Amino acid sequence: MPDKPLIDDDAVRRIIEHLGTAVLVFDRTLTLLFINPAGEMMLAISARQATGKLCGELLPDAVEFEKTLRRSLVNDHPLTEYQMELTLPGHGPITVDCSVTPFSGPRLSPMLLVEMAQVDRHMRISRDENQLAKQQATRAIVRGIAHEIKNPLGGLRGAAQLLERALPNEALKEYTDVIIREADRLQNLMNRMLGPNTLPQKRLINIHQVLEHVRTLVQAELTKPIEIVRDYDPSIPEVYADLDQIIQAVLNIVRNATQAIEGKGTITLRTRTQRQLTIGHGRHRLAARIDIIDNGTGIPPDMIENIFYPMVTGRADGTGLGLAIAQSLVNQHGGLIECSSTAGETTFTLLLPLETTHDQK
Ligand SMILES: Nc1ncnc2c1ncn2[C@@H]1O[C@H](COP(=O)(O)OP(=O)(O)OP(=O)(O)O)[C@@H](O)[C@H]1O
Ligand SMILES: [Mg+2]
Repeated sequence: MPDKPLIDDDAVRRIIEHLGTAVLVFDRTLTLLFINPAGEMMLAISARQATGKLCGELLPDAVEFEKTLRRSLVNDHPLTEYQMELTLPGHGPITVDCSVTPFSGPRLSPMLLVEMAQVDRHMRISRDENQLAKQQATRAIVRGIAHEIKNPLGGLRGAAQLLERALPNEALKEYTDVIIREADRLQNLMNRMLGPNTLPQKRLINIHQVLEHVRTLVQAELTKPIEIVRDYDPSIPEVYADLDQIIQAVLNIVRNATQAIEGKGTITLRTRTQRQLTIGHGRHRLAARIDIIDNGTGIPPDMIENIFYPMVTGRADGTGLGLAIAQSLVNQHGGLIECSSTAGETTFTLLLPLETTHDQK
């Protein structure tokens, strides 16, 4: 240990001031002693106005928050609350992940250190098991219906072809043509609703190969000036997956992004590794993460919760199957797709587990 600390108290204070995480310190009466600039921004209050006030005065509607502080203080134990709703006076609710740590020292009376990070308010698609189960159940119903429609469709088309050959008048062919064309259209739709009918052929694949393939495909289809930016982490390990299925999932998302951009825009393809991921009951130490970010119109808040369900579409010519299929393909790999969106920035995140530490199922 050096005799003199390498950084002095002033430097420490400046570091705290530059932190992106909101930091608040309360005393044991829950009076605010300190708030850093990130905290001021998040709670929309100035340090000058806020310090010296009681938690209940600052955030009168934040009952849950105050309870967490008290619990931590009484038990003298750190607590973390995820996705806690905080109502800011005059600004409405925000959702935060919040850690509370009681601390004291030889010359310090007990205090509470609160660290908060705002979780995207539009992050609605949760990793919650119920949500995943509901999506799966809906897909099963849709597949069942598609199967039932598909069977008689073949017969219908065959009969129209026979009829066409037996027609006495060429002009009547127009009608059989309509039957055949519409039967074909319906057949294609049913095939999409049924989803992939083969088991995944898994092998070790490079996710950048997936992204490059999709980029080339989409770029060839583009009719608008859309720039596709690549932000790849080359150190990501290979993923054990079905190449074609992951390409299909990513393609469906990237196509949606191109459709959401009006005129000029940018789509960013970003890859990262992510540590500690929980999906339903499964816990994974490491996952590959692909973010597909576009600066298009965004997804309306009243629609975002439902976009992974089949037949949900916001486009006049959409079938609403793209995301349901993508989610189903990624689920088959033990992974998950999430989405967050504000006007001008929509992010779809595809998470594919690389390692499973422990599965409670
Ligand atoms: N990046 C995005 N930006 C804005 N809205 C989006 C985005 N991605 C999806 N959406 C919305 O979600 C809806 C559902 O998407 P999904 O891909 O499942 O179906 P679709 O695109 O309508 O039809 P298709 O079956 O042809 O893909 C879209 O209609 C659109 O309203
Ligand atoms: Mg789509």
